[in-house]
Amino acid sequence: MIKKAWGGRFESNPESWVDAFNASIHFDKNLIDQDIQGSIAHATMLAEQNIINQHEAEQIIQGLKEIQQDYYNDNLELSESLEDIHLNIEHALIQKIGQVGGKLHTGRSRNDQVATDMHLYAKQHVHEIIELVESLQQAIIKIADEHVDTIMPGYTHLQRAQPISFAHHVMTYFWMLERDKSRFNDSIKRIDMSPLGATALSGTTHPIDRHRTQELLGFDNLYENSLDAVSDRDYIVETLHNISLTMVHLSRFSEEIIFWSSSEANFVTLSDSFSTGSSIMPQKKNPDMAELIRGKVGRTTGHLMSMLMTLKGLPLAYNKDMQEDKEGLFDAVHTIKGSLRIFEGMISTMTVNEERLHETVHQDFSNATELADYLVEQNIPFREAHEIVGKIVLWCIQNNKYLLDVPLEHYKSYNDKIDNNVYDYLKPENCLNRRKSYGSTGQEAVYHQIKVAKQLL
Ligand code: ARG
Repeated sequence: MIKKAWGGRFESNPESWVDAFNASIHFDKNLIDQDIQGSIAHATMLAEQNIINQHEAEQIIQGLKEIQQDYYNDNLELSESLEDIHLNIEHALIQKIGQVGGKLHTGRSRNDQVATDMHLYAKQHVHEIIELVESLQQAIIKIADEHVDTIMPGYTHLQRAQPISFAHHVMTYFWMLERDKSRFNDSIKRIDMSPLGATALSGTTHPIDRHRTQELLGFDNLYENSLDAVSDRDYIVETLHNISLTMVHLSRFSEEIIFWSSSEANFVTLSDSFSTGSSIMPQKKNPDMAELIRGKVGRTTGHLMSMLMTLKGLPLAYNKDMQEDKEGLFDAVHTIKGSLRIFEGMISTMTVNEERLHETVHQDFSNATELADYLVEQNIPFREAHEIVGKIVLWCIQNNKYLLDVPLEHYKSYNDKIDNNVYDYLKPENCLNRRKSYGSTGQEAVYHQIKVAKQLL
């Protein structure tokens, strides 16, 4: 039976199944690097402050580095009875270097220790997520660059609405991701804070130097209030929110890709390397990657809700409820990183079926607004023009035609101001190129948009 770090006031130990319920080691071992980094900074500061001597600090730091090696060499025994990564490391340290290892926890508590680990973890991973978002944005720009002049139907209510540029459509996701990135970037100032030295809740009588550990750990700032330092999990909620919203954006894009790659739309073809088949239907090629990403937003949003609920009504300062902050964050980080990587691969290798898109915008009524605008140019009030075009569209539907097929005499029967130039006017490419308004789908505006986007990366 391993002796508990807190065993002094106990007459008996919890049974192993109770220990198992209490333990977090099977997931917080994920924090080994951060925990060792925090401990090395703490030991360094303790020696500088003469709270321990230099030789003791060296022994401790050397021991910690060896434990980290042992872990990666699969040579570190982790025990549920030692609860978590912090107590497992302390135990291993004392076994390795003797009782001097017990000096490491001077002027520190697991409460500020675990908060430090989580801040280090969140900071590192939010930076990595930002890089992955940026890399996806690059991939989007590349597609946009190639498809400024590829025309596709733009939808509202999933009904063909007006022709737009394929580049304009995909660039929408660039801007969503740009806002996501800005939210992640903004959150860093709240993540980049050192709680170390807050100790259990009230600070310590030992002459520690919190500014020094802040500096050693590369934190930009430190908590002003020791209670706040150990009780704050806002940055975890915020990170889960930012992850969830980014996942929502990926799920919207996924949904479009699923639709675009359907047999009905056939706007894009996903590469074999990012598709899967069916065990029964030999003809199938399924967009599983996009579906999985669309589905995974459920779990990240679940983690966000779960963290909010865990914190609701939680009194100060540390409560064991807070141990529940880890699995959700680790899973959300893992999920978004995987999703961003897969998404980038999936869209970079898909083929845009230009011919099919061309055919599509020639076989719909997405140029109906243009016809109304044409009539407006002939000085007909827009409301009246709308009514006329509505009638023409109805006639076309009944007679199996599109607006470009309507004979001129028939047009003239609605309004004799309609002339031969209407056919040029209604061509999808002209619908786009007449759009000059800032941020529109017109060629020049899209080129400008892409230029602005490139400057942001
Ligand atoms: N495993 C704990 C957690 O993840 C570490 C902090 C424990 N502190 C305590 N006083 N029991 O939150």
